[in-house]
Amino acid sequence: MSDSHSLYKLSLAAVGTFAFLFARYFNAKNVQSKIGNDKTPEIGDIRVKIASRVAAASDLLIKKIARETAQLVSSLPSDRKIVNMSQGVPCLPIFDQAYDEMVKLLNTKLLPYSDVPGSTDVRKVCAQFVNKMYSIGQFSPSFDEENITVTSGAIQAIYCCLAISIDSPNDVVLTTLPAYGLYKQQTNILGGKFCSITTNEDNKFVPTGADLKHNFELHTRYQEHNGRLVKMCDVRSIVLCFPNNPTGAMLNSEQAKDITQSLHDLLVAYPTPGFSVILDEVYLGITSSSYVSLLQYASPLLRNSMFIILSASKGLGTTSL
Ligand SMILES: Cc1ncc(COP(=O)(O)O)c(C=O)c1O
Repeated sequence: MSDSHSLYKLSLAAVGTFAFLFARYFNAKNVQSKIGNDKTPEIGDIRVKIASRVAAASDLLIKKIARETAQLVSSLPSDRKIVNMSQGVPCLPIFDQAYDEMVKLLNTKLLPYSDVPGSTDVRKVCAQFVNKMYSIGQFSPSFDEENITVTSGAIQAIYCCLAISIDSPNDVVLTTLPAYGLYKQQTNILGGKFCSITTNEDNKFVPTGADLKHNFELHTRYQEHNGRLVKMCDVRSIVLCFPNNPTGAMLNSEQAKDITQSLHDLLVAYPTPGFSVILDEVYLGITSSSYVSLLQYASPLLRNSMFIILSASKGLGTTSL
């Protein structure tokens, strides 16, 4: 059975380089609180506003359109058909092996909990898949199951990555526009600040390294520490999506080198409190031409700050798994 078949068999969802980032990030947060906060918040000061933020978050337009189209489709008589183009729902059939394994599992009538980060077997296969798909042989060390977390779809993976990156209303999530609408909605729910880098047809919807640096530094401020002004950067996370939804933009190797060099330089220039780079690559595997990922050009420093988000929804066709 090929790697991707066993991947199916074990019903995965999404992967990320959690272990690396966790260590680095918590360290960074500690340093930040030592430098930045004169007053440590008391428990009573902390107001969790998730419920009101969720209530205030407007429904995504794409979700409204998808819901209304689904209602329309289901209300039609069976002899009439509508081609539903409101959402990019893949119509690939799932592999026979995946089907067989799911049926086998359901026939046991037992669906117990797995380990919190996902079952070890699944995470091992995910790591093999990432190493093979991204030709990780050139890196040392390559990925193993410790670098993998299985989530309930990429949506949850993105939420988790943003949740450990956003800590205060000053914390900025930077991404290119047009963008998948959920980044903004999740940032709002988590109480961070959503900021964007506009792209257009002239730059084929791909930012340059200089665009990233410029927009990153727009969110830099100075803070007094022991009578000195310390440069603080408010960007906590940069979300980059290639192949992109909705623009379809893809990277070539020159662009990937330029962007990764710029991100590396920013990490060196702003080590405190640091930032994460979230690569949303859920469309990996459904492109007709060869595929370039920022991961392949990332320095070890940058790689340690990266999350890679993959999904079984698109190229593997198991949208509702
Ligand atoms: C760019 C992007 N990221 C993430 C997702 C969500 O993927 P999943 O179905 O695995 O939650 C989508 C779904 O359309 C998407 O377009």
